[in-house]
Amino acid sequence: MEWRGLPLLKNPCDLWTLTDLLQRLKPRVIVETGTHWGASALYFAEMMALFQLPCVVITIDFNPKWTFDPATKSIHSLIGLSTDLAIVAQVDRKIGEVASKDDHVLVLLDSDHSRDNVLEEMRLYSRFVTPGSYLVVEDTNVNGHPSFPAHGPGPWEAVQEFLASTDAFEVDRDCERFLLTFNPGGWLKRVKPL
Ligand SMILES: C[S@@+](CC[C@H](N)C(=O)[O-])C[C@H]1O[C@@H](n2cnc3c(N)ncnc32)[C@H](O)[C@@H]1O
Repeated sequence: MEWRGLPLLKNPCDLWTLTDLLQRLKPRVIVETGTHWGASALYFAEMMALFQLPCVVITIDFNPKWTFDPATKSIHSLIGLSTDLAIVAQVDRKIGEVASKDDHVLVLLDSDHSRDNVLEEMRLYSRFVTPGSYLVVEDTNVNGHPSFPAHGPGPWEAVQEFLASTDAFEVDRDCERFLLTFNPGGWLKRVKPL
C-alpha cells in the first residue's frame, strides 16, 4: 500500500482496524517501533488530526527514511534501536510530557520481526500501554502462521512466550473480524495492571 506516495507496509484490513481503534480509544500518544518511510506514523497522525483529536506519534527506527519533517505532523522521531534503554527512556519522558493519567497510549511493534527482538520489545514497551488500550504485535503471520514458513521464530512465538508470563494482556479476536489480518493473535488488549 501507499500513503501519500510513501510505502506503507500494512494490510488494508489491519489499517482499517487500527483506524477504528484510533476513533474508539482516542490515544493521546501512539508509540510505533519501525518507522521505515514514516508512512504509518503519518497515517496515524493525519487520521488523528482529521478526527480533531490531539495526539503525538512517537516512532523509532535506526534508519528512518524521512522525506518530510516529522515534527510538522506531531510525529516525534527517535533514531536508534528500539531495545536500547536510552531510547526507551526517551519514549517514557515524551509520554510523561504529553499524556495525563487518564489518557490512552497505544503501542505498535513493527521493527525487527525476530522472536527475540519482539519479545524484548514486548517486555520494554508493554508498560506504556494503558488499561483498555492495545499492544499490537505486527506480522505474527510469519513462520507458518500461515505465511513465510521459512522465516524462523518470529512475532507469533514472542507473543506466546509473553502471554505465558503475564495475565495483564489478552488476545482480542474482535480485531480480526475482517478475517484477513497480518497479526493473527497479535492484537493484545491490556486488561489488568502489569
Ligand atoms: C516493517 S518496516 C516498518 C514499516 C512501517 N511501520 C509501516 O507500517 O510502513 C521495519 C523498520 O524497522 C526498522 N528496524 C529493524 N530493526 C530495528 C530495531 N531493532 N530497532 C529500530 N528499528 C528497527 C527498519 O529499519 C525498518 O525501517
